[in-house]
Amino acid sequence: MYDVFSLPAIRFPEGFVWGSATAGHQIEGDNIHSQAWHNEQQPEFYRDDPERATRAPSGKACDHFRLYRDDVELIASLGHRAYRMSIEWSRIEPVEGRWDHRALAHYLDLLERLVRKGIQVFVTLHHFTHPLWFERLGGFGKADNRRFFERYLTFLLPQISPMVSGWNVINEFNQWGGLTAGPTVAPLKFNMLRTHALGYHLIKRYSSAPVSSAHAFIHWFPRRFHDDLDRRMTDFADFTTNEFFFHALRTGELVYPGVDAEYDPEVKGSLDFWSVNYYTRHMVDARLAGLDGPRFAHKLLQMIPIRFYLEEMYPEGLTANLERLRDYPVYITENGCCADDDRFRIVYLALHLSALHEALERGVDVRGYFYWSLMDNYEWTTFIPRFGLVAVDFQTFRRSPKTSALFYREIIRDNGFGGETVRRYLDALPTLPGPVA
Ligand code: BGC
Repeated sequence: MYDVFSLPAIRFPEGFVWGSATAGHQIEGDNIHSQAWHNEQQPEFYRDDPERATRAPSGKACDHFRLYRDDVELIASLGHRAYRMSIEWSRIEPVEGRWDHRALAHYLDLLERLVRKGIQVFVTLHHFTHPLWFERLGGFGKADNRRFFERYLTFLLPQISPMVSGWNVINEFNQWGGLTAGPTVAPLKFNMLRTHALGYHLIKRYSSAPVSSAHAFIHWFPRRFHDDLDRRMTDFADFTTNEFFFHALRTGELVYPGVDAEYDPEVKGSLDFWSVNYYTRHMVDARLAGLDGPRFAHKLLQMIPIRFYLEEMYPEGLTANLERLRDYPVYITENGCCADDDRFRIVYLALHLSALHEALERGVDVRGYFYWSLMDNYEWTTFIPRFGLVAVDFQTFRRSPKTSALFYREIIRDNGFGGETVRRYLDALPTLPGPVA
């Protein structure tokens, strides 16, 4: 484990934006008109997965839809200056073409309360979930369906814009379709780029706040460093998940393996900042069908008993990858780890913030950082991974800030930290539990 107690003291630039992030479906509860809710009720959802015993429906999640007033107080009490949240399209338009004004009023109240506390709000307009009716019409798989998203945004944006300090049109579509090449995935990727561009230009009509779409920035690395095939396939993995997205937004060229490139002037330059979600690194093995290789045992973060979350913590990847994004300001819109032992979170935070600071020193214009996540929440199929700075009791919905939340509050207050700060919140480095069967 890295020696976080000896980290040199660092300070962040004046006005650096500090906050945390969440997504509607993961915290609100009873998101009954969404396709995600519907899927969670199907028997297939609990099959086809080696870890199906861990699966659960979102149910009440953190009951945030009801408890949002208290949660605003909580965010403020933790010293956060910014908050990234998403708005559930399926609540506002539960039936095609019909607006639920009460749902809209709810979000307006939430936004107003945050703004009144002096918290900058970054809004994600699509964080994996959308109305079931939209899904049934083919969702984003059909290019023509963009008009539904456009109609929704045209309704929503003028009402919320005055309260929004930053925008994510869509969350992490760059990784949809995984590492697959060719005509099965490319149309969706291209359609999402165009949906992003549509959102970008619409927002510009109502808001002067910066706009982007959050990018899942995966750091790929070859299993055998000197193996030419592993290296080439690492480039391929990087291209299909990362570079195609950067290239398209920079140039308007939609380039993806297996299909002819297209040019779309609307996509070109459709961003005001790079929105980076960074977690871990992944190994590429050219000899495996899925390319996604095993994890290095000595680098595993064995923090919870789910194999999928045995990830390789790699803070250096944050520095290296941010260096690719020098042409626009950058916000880290997600970064965090799931661990039952909160001491891992303190280590993870300390190391990633140091890596981020290194990128700043190398001249990358990083403007802010949002920890994922404000509170333990519904991790899409399960409640087991705990990413929160705040613990949630899923029976009583009681919130209890963890030590990492206090550590983070001090970092925000001082606009920096060092090994000395870590020492005050961490008595000893956490030990890894035994191997997961
Ligand atoms: C997503 C979040 C998710 C987090 C942790 C990100 O890819 O945007 O919704 O909870 O990763 O897995």
